[in-house]
Amino acid sequence: VPISAPPRPTDTGILPIPEPDHPFIAPGPDDRRGPCPGLNTLANHGYLPRNGIASFEEIINATTHGYNMDYDLASGLAAFAMLARGNAFINKISIGLDSPLVPALPGEIDGPIARGLAAHGRFEGDVSMTRQDAAIGDNRNFQADLYDQLLSFVDQFGDNSTVTGPRSIVNQRVLAEFKYKRFVDSQAADKQLEYHIGRWLGSYGEASFTLNFFANGTDGILTVPTMTSFFRDQRFPANWNRRSGAGLLDKIGDDAGAILSAKPVQPGANDANGVYVPDTAPIDNCSFYNSFAEDVPAVLLNTTGLLKQNVDLLLDTVHNTFGAGCPVAEPRGAA
Ligand code: HEM
Ligand code: MG
Repeated sequence: VPISAPPRPTDTGILPIPEPDHPFIAPGPDDRRGPCPGLNTLANHGYLPRNGIASFEEIINATTHGYNMDYDLASGLAAFAMLARGNAFINKISIGLDSPLVPALPGEIDGPIARGLAAHGRFEGDVSMTRQDAAIGDNRNFQADLYDQLLSFVDQFGDNSTVTGPRSIVNQRVLAEFKYKRFVDSQAADKQLEYHIGRWLGSYGEASFTLNFFANGTDGILTVPTMTSFFRDQRFPANWNRRSGAGLLDKIGDDAGAILSAKPVQPGANDANGVYVPDTAPIDNCSFYNSFAEDVPAVLLNTTGLLKQNVDLLLDTVHNTFGAGCPVAEPRGAA
């Protein structure tokens, strides 16, 4: 199936979501759900296919429409996801684990199946907020004990609301304290902790998504009930609106940077003795972009025909979004 970039949305205004023709329906036993509360929620409302198996275009259309994620940001994430964990030949990816609907690429170049976004490594990684590290727990499903920790930080550092009560509004400080706690706990508990630049920055990006995309577009405020609806129930809250104005990478990056600098952590990994070893490589946008190349199987370069055409489009898209001004990085990941 040839992959092509869908048209850019023309309307990026505020909009009540979900629309009447997109009711919440809990996933069935064969439907795939994974580590991304944003995508799970879209699938539970039929903005993505309810079975959790989506194309490149469907992911872009759903995330831009449902959350007003900027088109280029959505395209870059969807492209990287497809390259890292999907089947770029049939243009399908599971937002959860393996599915018979997403077979291996021709020649089984990445093993007998394409694993999906919930498989550990490449995209899914350590120090998530509401999922445990793969080596020590469940890296796919919502973990109530971790979410309770987040709520306790809202209790301590949140802003006051006249509607939902004192300290019930999530802010940057809450996320900075929580992200730091998650790192400290993972560092101590997970001998195999990996937190190199791609995952490190990506994880702060996800903290920034929480503020930028889950907040109600009517006032730009993220309350605890709203956040719980997304993380725990994977359901759009009642009376919720998507943000007005597309959420651009620059703004997401600035907020991610603010969350990180309030409680700094270096990219790195644990060694065999469980000692955290910070990376020495420079930290800049090209290093971040370059790290994607480790997470895309190198064998994808040795392809022909339609698969090559699709892979080239996806690689270009990742470069446009995350590598502007950087030399093109060729995939060099293990299969
Ligand atoms: C986490 C994929 C869009 C919010 C993740 C993870 C993946 C992923 C693989 C797991 C990473 C990890 O924590 O180990 C994608 C893709 C997207 C997308 C391919 C395509 C555009 C969104 C959107 C939102 C969002 C639009 C918000 C509306 C989040 C959050 C997390 C996350 C908050 C962190 C969850 C946690 O740490 O507990 N995403 N995502 N994502 N995503 Fe997405
Ligand atoms: Mg994770």
